[in-house]
Amino acid sequence: MTTQEEQTRSELRFPTGFAWGAATSAYQIEGAVTADGRGTSIWDTFTKTPGRVVGGEHADVAIDHYNRYRDDVRIMADLGLSAYRFSVSWPRVQPDGSGAVNQKGLDFYKRLVDELLSHGIDPWLTLYHWDLPQALEDRGGWPARDTALRFADYAAIVHEALHDRVHTWSTVNEPWCAAFLGYASGEHAPGRREPENAIRAAHHLNLAHGLGVQAMGARRVGGCVNLYAITPATASEADQDAARRIDGLQNRFFLDALLTGRYPQDVLDDLRMDLAFIEDGDLKTINAPIDVLLVNYYSRFTVSGAPGGRASAAAAPTDSASPWVGSEHVSFVNGGRPVTAMGWEIDEDGLVEVLARVARDYPRIPLVVSENGAAFEDVLADGRVRDEERRAYFEAHLGACREAIDAGVPLEGYFAWSLMDNFEWAWGYGKRFGIVRVDYETQERLPKDSATWYAEIIRQNRNHE
Ligand code: NOJ
Repeated sequence: MTTQEEQTRSELRFPTGFAWGAATSAYQIEGAVTADGRGTSIWDTFTKTPGRVVGGEHADVAIDHYNRYRDDVRIMADLGLSAYRFSVSWPRVQPDGSGAVNQKGLDFYKRLVDELLSHGIDPWLTLYHWDLPQALEDRGGWPARDTALRFADYAAIVHEALHDRVHTWSTVNEPWCAAFLGYASGEHAPGRREPENAIRAAHHLNLAHGLGVQAMGARRVGGCVNLYAITPATASEADQDAARRIDGLQNRFFLDALLTGRYPQDVLDDLRMDLAFIEDGDLKTINAPIDVLLVNYYSRFTVSGAPGGRASAAAAPTDSASPWVGSEHVSFVNGGRPVTAMGWEIDEDGLVEVLARVARDYPRIPLVVSENGAAFEDVLADGRVRDEERRAYFEAHLGACREAIDAGVPLEGYFAWSLMDNFEWAWGYGKRFGIVRVDYETQERLPKDSATWYAEIIRQNRNHE
């Protein structure tokens, strides 16, 4: 071992009981979209609509995890993971999003969870990772309040079936994306470009979270948000105001609602729309006590604002790269850092900043980094993927987690995104985030060098427990 490797390892020593995980989501990996009575989701519809996904790709087969879950759990065990974060497909459990339960769909998750438990891997279950039953979209989707009520029923069904096996639950993955990419920019399913409805959707996703928490009763449960570090491009008033607005919609709209029971007044003021859909008592529901906050972190935004810019939900986003409601006169500028294959700037300091900010502004809630990772152009040569850039990304971000803990942040775990290469939404299969490579022709799995490195960090830490 070189001195540098030794140093890395001692710097990456984490507290006993820290959760060492990797994450995936149902639509991105399962495939088997018509198996055992699964209903249609908005992503099935969206991917079949020409022009929506790069190369017209879809996830009918994806990485066939539905049939290969045993092999995949074996890979997790070989890596030494102590936890695995996955999501349940709502249309597998309730094909029409309401009413009758599809027992065969639920049984798949029972089998998966049992397999995890038999390998000593703690299952972290996410109830909603964007695959809304199409029948509910046909009745209005997330802009309709009823969808949140249906989510509460669904949460209760899954909880009833799996609460004896699953210890940690989370409700909605990244409500910002589901609302704004789904209903403002239209880059994600269902592909609507209706900015005011994106705000309604965001509220109803928050409401679904709160109702879901209530429906599950006693359990360890969390909400999951995607947070960004945000910097104004200059000290000018316009740039600082742009940063305030983006931070408001991206971060505080969700954090404040979940953790304080209020929406930030400046965001509500900026929206300048009728907010009558926020009913009395909703915020109290959304603020239902949770046990942990799941934070997905990828990057930092540097933003600039032109003089006179005001946020308004009524304005359509100007282009698909800027899906923000309230983003008129806000532009995202190059912060000068190296980027991943997604074009996302790599900034581990942003992770320290985000975690420290949550710990400061919303004290006493345990945190977990529930997604963090990077897509790069992988090269398979001599049976190996030497993904040094991805490994370095993980090392830097785990270092950031360590720094946050040293600064007093109650951080209890880390989940690499993703366990395996998979269907990257509107980008299709071209963007690979996995620490395990998947050959999409043969479905062969191959741990990349980053996986070997991560497994070693985990081993070092777990040996000291
Ligand atoms: C966040 C999402 O939760 C996940 O589904 C997605 O693949 C990653 N970010 C990477 O974009």
